[in-house]
Amino acid sequence: MTDIVYLNGDYIEKSSAKISVLDRGFLFGDGIYEVIPVYKSSPFRLAEHIERLNYCANAIGLNSPHDLAQWQSIIDTVIEKNGGGHLSIYLQLTRGVEQQRQHDFPENTPLTVLVMANPLSPAIAKLSAIKTTLLDDIRWQNCHIKSISLLGNILLHQQAKALGYQEAILHREGIITEGSTTNVFLVKNNEIYTPPKSHHILGGITRELIIEFCQQLSIVVHQQQITIDDIYQADEVWLASSSREISPVTQINDKIIATGAIGPTTQKVHKAFQAFKQSLMTQGS
Ligand code: PDD
Repeated sequence: MTDIVYLNGDYIEKSSAKISVLDRGFLFGDGIYEVIPVYKSSPFRLAEHIERLNYCANAIGLNSPHDLAQWQSIIDTVIEKNGGGHLSIYLQLTRGVEQQRQHDFPENTPLTVLVMANPLSPAIAKLSAIKTTLLDDIRWQNCHIKSISLLGNILLHQQAKALGYQEAILHREGIITEGSTTNVFLVKNNEIYTPPKSHHILGGITRELIIEFCQQLSIVVHQQQITIDDIYQADEVWLASSSREISPVTQINDKIIATGAIGPTTQKVHKAFQAFKQSLMTQGS
């Protein structure tokens, strides 16, 4: 059961949670969000998610209304009220409700704060290969901001789905940026490559974690430009995010990646990821 949400100070039934038609999130997509996985009732990498929330708030001229401890308390309450276990927390901040629709930022308007829980599929802990397509990254120039204005992302994701693929890998003039909802990694000669952080990609929390695991496993990680040719010639490719963890990519358009099997480096990093999660869950119990 995931039916209680936090909205502007209250914990209420999702079905009775309502926002005004004058909310700037609704009118302009003027807001930011976070998706935080919860394993065994414990938010995963919460401090990092709240740090990114603060960074994004700052980037669009918002002041996050809560500090880490307050967010933790709200999120823990939402988790508890929704029965705990494995969940995905969705946290959204918008620039609030104004008197009438106008482009100028409103003054002294409280932000709209929403925290809700969705089920987190246990299947994400298993490696399951996906097929992807390459699409032109038509989004704006500030993809490092986790904006709720996701029209570019969802149109690209839908285009991939319509073509029979599970996710789109995006590129700008032949340089790979990220997936429509994920960061991209490839393996070549036992070393890992991922696009560097820039305004063209979201700095994923999962991306950082994977880089940490690779360091622990003594696998070299290059944060450098990847071309379309590089990705087609890779030994292994995977996508990463808080809601997918690690998704091995075995096909891009008609091209089978290497042998078409889930590669050994993907499996090694995935194993480290699961062991780390397990150790946190054991500590917490
Ligand atoms: N998406 N790049 C994009 C465009 C994303 O939307 C996401 C996550 C990521 C990975 O970020 P992280 O590892 O912090 O989840 C990269 C979330 C899960 C979503 O929109 O639902």
